Amino acid sequence: MTSLWLADRVQQAAHPSSVSSDFDRNADVVVVGAGITGLTTAVLLARAGRNVLVLEAFTVGAGATGNTTAKISVLQGSKMSKIVGKHGPKIAKMYAQGNREGQEWLLGYCEARGISVQREDAYTYAQTEKGVSSARQELEACQAAGLAADWVDDADVPFEFNGGVRLANQAQFDPMPYLDSLVVELDERGGRLVQSTRVQRVSGHGDGLALSVRTSAGEEFDVHTKQCVLATGIPILDRGGFFARLKPQRSYCMAYKVPGTLPRGMYLSVDSPTRSVRYAPTPDGDRLIVGGAGHPVGREKSPSSSVQELDSWAKQHYPGAMQTHYWSAQDYTPADELPYVGPILPGDDKIFVATGFDKWGMTNGVAAALALSGRILGGRMDWADAFASWSPHELSGIPKALQANLEVGFNLAKGWITPVTRMGDRSPESGGVVSGPPWDLEARCRVNGVEHRVSPVCPHLGGIVNWNDADEAWECPLHGSRFAPDGTLLEGPATRGLTASVQSAHG
Ligand SMILES: Cc1cc2nc3c(=O)[nH]c(=O)nc-3n(C[C@H](O)[C@H](O)[C@H](O)COP(=O)(O)OP(=O)(O)OC[C@H]3O[C@@H](n4cnc5c(N)ncnc54)[C@H](O)[C@@H]3O)c2cc1C
Ligand code: FES
Repeated sequence: MTSLWLADRVQQAAHPSSVSSDFDRNADVVVVGAGITGLTTAVLLARAGRNVLVLEAFTVGAGATGNTTAKISVLQGSKMSKIVGKHGPKIAKMYAQGNREGQEWLLGYCEARGISVQREDAYTYAQTEKGVSSARQELEACQAAGLAADWVDDADVPFEFNGGVRLANQAQFDPMPYLDSLVVELDERGGRLVQSTRVQRVSGHGDGLALSVRTSAGEEFDVHTKQCVLATGIPILDRGGFFARLKPQRSYCMAYKVPGTLPRGMYLSVDSPTRSVRYAPTPDGDRLIVGGAGHPVGREKSPSSSVQELDSWAKQHYPGAMQTHYWSAQDYTPADELPYVGPILPGDDKIFVATGFDKWGMTNGVAAALALSGRILGGRMDWADAFASWSPHELSGIPKALQANLEVGFNLAKGWITPVTRMGDRSPESGGVVSGPPWDLEARCRVNGVEHRVSPVCPHLGGIVNWNDADEAWECPLHGSRFAPDGTLLEGPATRGLTASVQSAHG
């Protein structure tokens, strides 16, 4: 379950202030989260002379950024048709411009620092005849947004390709050298990174903020700052209604050793089931990466069957392919298709969020960093309207947000009521199950022969977790928090793990 990017990583000597809890607990700006968004924002602020502290719950890249597919592309599946359909070409142009600037900044940084990037064409393609009209629609939307996309009937690939949109000269990379380089620059500019430290609460403190944090060693203390950027994927604070405006989506990736030469280019199908394909150079030769099998977090009965189907697809089309890595991650789909970047509440100039990248954070995360650092330093990007956390464009997202909340309410009720009909008192032989009456629910799982019993009640807002059989993890269907078999918090807006079940506490 380790991504190609995070596997075999040597502990970075470049992360100087990484583990000690003995650090100056005051900063001008605290950035929470050391993914592409947080670290890029931190470096931009440090360049402008701000005293910046980055707090990361785990390690650099532990979230979506270290588990991404890492295509740096402004052609983004069928994203542009959705934006044009909802907001019209003017906002779509701004979204494209923000992404282009994010892309340019990122590629310029990589070039200046000698970080390897492969320039490749990106394709949004139809697998079947049925998908052609959606792909054609995406071409029109891209052209309306000012992108120099064109149509190709064929591509030199071994899978079904019924024509598609091409945007030439996009890029792909391994995201970890980029993050490592940002950490080095942050340090050079007097910024600090502290890992294994989770922010649990943020409250007012005089003119500024107090962040209550807990280290992985269990130490708890406050950090004081004037301003704070939540670059945590979904925001960890229950303010601003972001839980209602974001849908957590999990998807899966696999890397393969394949005999022969792999085709170039980056591919994403417009029709289902989604197929995402690219190659990745490694010291050991090129690897094939395929991605897909996506689902809303905690709401798929058996993700493992779609993952197996994706694996079979890869092996069928790339004979002799041998799987070397398997991983998964989640990102957040915004109700109105545009990212939320800006103050957590209208007019708030202390707490900022950056989320809703819809699996396109390589360009959007950097664009968010440019927009947020610009705003904190007193500027404004021309395209900021397409990235606003609060703006009229949200009105168009309200029907979808309402629908998402009906689904959340439905899943909340379902989680509390359904388990009574399940396994009774039996423990699963493998995998996990939630059972019992609503007043006495228990989540039990068996992994590698070891049984774990925990309370299934998500400490975030009381959802009831479900078992993910592909990742062997508990997932909350409400806002996407995830927990290890023993209840340890993995990710999500929750800031602590599942508690031990009453039964197991009683022996
Ligand atoms: C399977 C998959 C494939 C993708 N492929 C692509 C692609 O090809 N191209 C593309 O552009 N985008 C892609 N994306 C999207 C992209 O990876 C994300 O949008 C991007 O990485 C988000 O970066 P981030 O820095 O905002 O968040 P993250 O990388 O998730 O970073 C958030 C960090 O915050 C930390 N954190 C969370 N809570 C706390 C807390 N309370 N205290 C302290 N730290 C905390 C986490 O540990 C994490 O390290 C993909 C996403 C997925 C899931
Ligand atoms: S993630 Fe919000 S209730 Fe579980």
